Amino acid sequence: MGGDFLSKDATATVDEPVWRFPGQQESITFTLLADNILRIALTPHGALPHRSWAVEPQSDARRASTFAVEQDDETSLVVRTPALTLSIERRTRMFSIAQADEAPIFTQVQLRGASEAQRWQMPLADGVHIFGAGERTGRLNKRGRRLTFWTKDALPHFNEQTDAMYQSVPFLVQLAQGRVSGFFFDSNWCAIADIGQQEPGFLTYVTSGPDLVVYICAGPTFVDVLGQYTSITGRMPPQPRWALGYQQSRWSYTSADEVRAIAAGFRQQGIPCDAIYLDLDYMEGFRDFTWSRERFPDPVGLIQELREQGLRVVTIIDPGLKVDPDYPVYREGIEQGYFIRNVDGTLFEGWAWPGKTVWADFARVDVQDWWGAQHRVLLDAGVAGIWIDMNEPTQANMGAPPEIDIPHGMSLPLDTQHGRLDEPLSHGEFHNAYGLEMARATYVHLQQLRPDERPFVLTRAATAGSQRYAIPWNGDTTSSWDHLRLAIPMNLGVGLSGMPMSGCDVGGFWNDTTPELLVRFTQLGAFLPFCRNHSAIGTQRQEPWSFGEPYTSICREAIERRYRLLPYLVSLAHEAAKTGLPMMRPLCWLAPDEPTVLDCDDEFLLGNDLLVAPVLAEGATERQVTLPPGAWFDVTNGVVYDGPGKITVPVQLETVPVFVRAGAIVPLASAAQHTDTPPLEPLTLHTYLAQPSPRIIASIWDDDDHPQAEGRGTFAEYQVTASWDGDTVTVHAEQRDGHLALRYPGMRVTLHVPPSYHAELISEPMGSLPLMVSFLVRK
Ligand code: GLC
Repeated sequence: MGGDFLSKDATATVDEPVWRFPGQQESITFTLLADNILRIALTPHGALPHRSWAVEPQSDARRASTFAVEQDDETSLVVRTPALTLSIERRTRMFSIAQADEAPIFTQVQLRGASEAQRWQMPLADGVHIFGAGERTGRLNKRGRRLTFWTKDALPHFNEQTDAMYQSVPFLVQLAQGRVSGFFFDSNWCAIADIGQQEPGFLTYVTSGPDLVVYICAGPTFVDVLGQYTSITGRMPPQPRWALGYQQSRWSYTSADEVRAIAAGFRQQGIPCDAIYLDLDYMEGFRDFTWSRERFPDPVGLIQELREQGLRVVTIIDPGLKVDPDYPVYREGIEQGYFIRNVDGTLFEGWAWPGKTVWADFARVDVQDWWGAQHRVLLDAGVAGIWIDMNEPTQANMGAPPEIDIPHGMSLPLDTQHGRLDEPLSHGEFHNAYGLEMARATYVHLQQLRPDERPFVLTRAATAGSQRYAIPWNGDTTSSWDHLRLAIPMNLGVGLSGMPMSGCDVGGFWNDTTPELLVRFTQLGAFLPFCRNHSAIGTQRQEPWSFGEPYTSICREAIERRYRLLPYLVSLAHEAAKTGLPMMRPLCWLAPDEPTVLDCDDEFLLGNDLLVAPVLAEGATERQVTLPPGAWFDVTNGVVYDGPGKITVPVQLETVPVFVRAGAIVPLASAAQHTDTPPLEPLTLHTYLAQPSPRIIASIWDDDDHPQAEGRGTFAEYQVTASWDGDTVTVHAEQRDGHLALRYPGMRVTLHVPPSYHAELISEPMGSLPLMVSFLVRK
């Protein structure tokens, strides 16, 4: 291709914000979806953009209503909305976009088409940071990296430089001089973004697909950009409350008795836990949707027994099915032609856990329906959630004869075929969406099979849009200090890629963990949006009590901290589902123009109020902590520090440096064994004020865990305000919306002021709502 945008032919539809520039062999079309979202599509002549797996048609069909064409002449076209200005130079075929205040999002972008590759190139100014891009190792800022967008089972012991990982999300978040904007390259094909590696001053994105569709999110804040991006690709559905509790897994708990022993371990040790995961060995010979009769003879009884102890069961499902004519699921799939085919139309057979394997074709809705219906076997037994794995998709060397070489992470051949026979789709095109569509099949059918419960789906592979159906985890981490450190930027990056709830294998998956490493992983994991301990077969056991004292107690304390935070986590998960904001945020989220915090990725914010700086080094006796602007309360001793800046705090094995933003109200519950435990103590509104200040406001969300809680009104939104006027601090709490009764026996307030002040309760709080509590605060 490589054609011109023929300026003379450029057409502007007056009532539709769509401008099309036909070239010799290609067209470029600018469409304003909203006043802050612009879609740019480079398509071969006469062709429509390719089918998108990531974007739902109704999101794409939106059109901005407030825009003005400021200039449309021989030289340029300039369109302005309240949020952005688009300028296209007709002669050079370059375009620029600026935010409302004229700050450039990019200038002089070149878009080039060719039959094999479509290319976007834009200059990157000094100091510009690029975040996101899905699941990535290394620093949070991806400047200087060359990133492949291809879902991949990463090699064991991946490192800072590892390229493609399990979750490939072609969404880049740009931070330039305190302003944030986003670029979503909606290509499912293999693509590469060179973020200033080969040419330091340029970002180049090249896709091997036949067209290039890019969505520009105009920002200008992180909150805006994540909201805009998830208005295109969708948001995480409400998660069940138990998913916020601590989860325990291992490859594998191999029998019902072992699972019982693990459950008993938690309850005897008094360690909170909400779910136990069953890896491959619950199945009969790795056959999906079966139970091993010998090892799990009575799944219904087992799950019921666990449930009485407040424990749910989540089972793994892989997309590959065992080739076995006596296995009904395989037989049915063969009869219906539901599996991926070779290019000549014959069945594709590869290798995975069950030995010779075929793969369900999730590109087809009828296959999704069939697959989804299989889950009845698991749900009827009482399984609470589904963990989908190996869905990059990945083959595995199990049971393959020696002459067949299946290197780790090998996927399916690119020319294998998906789709109906009359509408074939190559694996090369569908690969990145395979995990997304498996997640869709699972989520949609859990919803249908059990409409009164919020589905829970944990996925390893993901791409843009996967957040609509599943939450991801980081895959097979190593039990190492390096991987502990990597967990922070990895999960921050995942969150900035529209997947707000994720976590790592606490304790590490490969290799043996050590007592100290397990403690540090548990302390970090307890503050991640999703917290699951998981380890590989044959490795050192790493349930929280595995190393005895003092480690057991320190792990218990870390996990209890998470349960105390549950009301805060519930509010954050609700916010994530409503708005697309990640639960875990980089420090620059609060201060995008503060140089001190810009490159800090060994700490994170949980919501806007908690700053978590877990200890990440072996044998540490101190921890340097970077603080964003504002005053920060050290929760261990109440000392208040002023940011921005760096401080060093002493640490012991039990220390987790956590700071609360002055001006925050953090709701805490008492620790509990699981999230269904009826609370015996009031909800405590920890109010942090560093100085006399006008009113601060916090919102707390709770609901009855029903999928329709919001529609049915079975939720509660509490508003808490606090002000410090003269020598009086007044805290007021009331229910603003919803008719869910308070689940706690009342509310109470704990006031935190700097140690130089003395606070004394002066009102007689009743504990019931509305609540008004006053304190006398003196130096
Ligand atoms: C993959 C998963 C891991 C799981 C194992 C066996 O390696 O990433 O979590 O335990 O397969 O199912």
